[in-house]
Amino acid sequence: MNITGKTKILGILGYPVNHTISPPMHNAVIKMLGLDIVYLPFEVKPSNLQHAVNGIRGLGILGINITIPHKETVVKFLDKISEEVKLIGAVNTIVNKDGCLIGHNTDGYGYITSLKEELNFSAKGKKIVILGAGGAARGILTALAVKKPEAIIVANRTIARAVSVVKIFKEKFPNIKFEAVYIDEDMLKAYFQYADLIVNTTSVGMKKKGILKTPLEALPKTAIVSDIIYNPLETPLLERAKKLGLITHGGLGMLIHQGAKSFKLWTGIDAPTKVMRKAALKAVKSGGGK
Ligand code: ATR
Repeated sequence: MNITGKTKILGILGYPVNHTISPPMHNAVIKMLGLDIVYLPFEVKPSNLQHAVNGIRGLGILGINITIPHKETVVKFLDKISEEVKLIGAVNTIVNKDGCLIGHNTDGYGYITSLKEELNFSAKGKKIVILGAGGAARGILTALAVKKPEAIIVANRTIARAVSVVKIFKEKFPNIKFEAVYIDEDMLKAYFQYADLIVNTTSVGMKKKGILKTPLEALPKTAIVSDIIYNPLETPLLERAKKLGLITHGGLGMLIHQGAKSFKLWTGIDAPTKVMRKAALKAVKSGGGK
């Protein structure tokens, strides 16, 4: 890497940030394309978030990814937000346009692009169950809803959160059947038997910790079981689904495609996703992404 007086900066803001695999993923693309840019990790405590955001303007940083725990709180420090962010309430990408900071969310795009690429799945007319009702769930819901599925069930441990998410989306997408339910094995059976896709957006199963009790046996054999966690690459939920002969979809593709869309927003260049995938896989296998 040759840092010069003209080198531009990209990066990621999070707390903690030491295990993120976005730097190797983006730097692999930057190197391959021969760009004079470097992508850096910035560990920012919540109490310093506003200073850090002002630093993006002050230092002329080209663009930033936002990760846990800042995705929602960062919104109030930005100059503009995209239509998607208005619905999702969370930002994962900031573009610095001549000092004007614009917040985007590329997570949902990353998710549906990966489903299309890996399984040729299109949400149109489908019945979908989303497990979880946090920021990640809302990002995915937004991207799925615009594809006109027949029904989306939001299942969450805290039912009030699912109810409030469903209320917002019902107003925005009146032609889709939405329902909020409690995550409970027996309750879910009724919905699983007709589902085309179930998506785990909760943190259960990350680093192999915890098992989400879900009635996978009730799913039709053609259903897809999807998990947005990429460490481990195969979560306990996906292992169980595989044993039952169901189609599975892991989280690495979402990570890659959300990164590619962010890269395009910052540079205008289509990132070679094969290069991103190779670098991301290498980083996960050597212990990153925790
Ligand atoms: P993110 O931005 O990654 O979505 P979040 O907004 O904190 O993070 O949401 C985390 C999701 O995982 C929530 O749906 C949460 O359920 P609650 O709303 O009930 O907190 C879900 N979650 C986390 N731990 C869980 C567990 N042990 N069992 C079931 N759901 C869990």
